[in-house]
Amino acid sequence: MHLLPLLTLVTAIAAQKAYQGFNSGAFFTSSKPKTESDFESEFLAAQALHYSPGFFSSARLYTNIQAGITDTPIQAFQAAINTNTSLLLGIWCSGTTSIDNEMVAFKTAVGNLGTKFTDLVMGISVGSEDLYRLSESGIANNAGIGNSPNSIISFIKAIRTSITDTALAAGNKPVWITETGWPTSGPTNGRAVLSTENAKTYWDTIACRYLRETNVWWYTLSDANTSIKEKFAISKDLTSADTIFNLTCPAGSVAPTSINMDWTKGVKKNTAVRQIATVGFVSLAGIVGAVVLLL
Ligand SMILES: *[C@@H]1O[C@H](CO)[C@@H](O)[C@H](O)[C@H]1NC(C)=O
Ligand SMILES: *[C@@H]1O[C@H](CO)[C@@H](O)[C@H](O)[C@H]1NC(C)=O
Ligand SMILES: *[C@@H]1O[C@H](CO)[C@@H](O)[C@H](O)[C@H]1NC(C)=O
Repeated sequence: MHLLPLLTLVTAIAAQKAYQGFNSGAFFTSSKPKTESDFESEFLAAQALHYSPGFFSSARLYTNIQAGITDTPIQAFQAAINTNTSLLLGIWCSGTTSIDNEMVAFKTAVGNLGTKFTDLVMGISVGSEDLYRLSESGIANNAGIGNSPNSIISFIKAIRTSITDTALAAGNKPVWITETGWPTSGPTNGRAVLSTENAKTYWDTIACRYLRETNVWWYTLSDANTSIKEKFAISKDLTSADTIFNLTCPAGSVAPTSINMDWTKGVKKNTAVRQIATVGFVSLAGIVGAVVLLL
């Protein structure tokens, strides 16, 4: 097993770097599974986004499994290798009693892809909004099938056991922002009005406040589920560097300055070089939308 070196690596990287990226679903709004080249286009688009504050070279996945195939590794892994995209892996936990297929897919990928893959992995997120979905407000908002705290904890334990036989050092764990964003369109929900202008305000207030300072995976570059009426995508399409609103952060924010400022340039194939802001971590308790850090 190559798993212990992976853990060591993850811990070392996590102490020094701030990652920035987007959440990446396993399929398109048409429900068609994304293939390696689809993920590759998406990851290159993230790196090329016009007026991007810094370099978006990380992806947060929701599952290790290729959509529709029982326990086969997701093709995003090879696409990440092709584009030098770091990965926050995901374990899909909603409405399930077993994550065995997730663990098989992960171990198969480690065996087949080796350190080219594990060098890019900087964490594993167990579940997504499962606890919210089962909460009072999640149920009121028809948030979907989630899972209980006990199940999520048992899944986290299973993952930890599978990647190391030593307990992780206890102590201060930083909070990462793994899934937050504001829809550019969709139905009004309570006092939440969905518009491009409000999405830009949320970006300026949250993304521009935390990029560079902590790890951020924004929700999202492109939408992945047609039955969700709220549209969160900030890119016009998967292969375009064009964005729905101007990503430039307000003057004086901590976020990196804008890059990719030549409006005429689009997504280039296979020229990606990953850069990561080398800054210290700040522990940020209580950020809305944050999901527990697991490694
Ligand atoms: C798409 O979203 C709906 C509504 O939240 C959910 O019921 C469904 O399971 C999702 N589809 C997939 C493939 O995740
Ligand atoms: C994006 O906003 C910045 C800052 O206001 C501005 O300098 C730039 O021209 C804008 N880009 C576009 C394409 O509008
Ligand atoms: C991949 O990204 C890492 C982290 O920024 C960087 O050190 C490395 O040079 C990149 N490799 C390639 C081949 O671009």
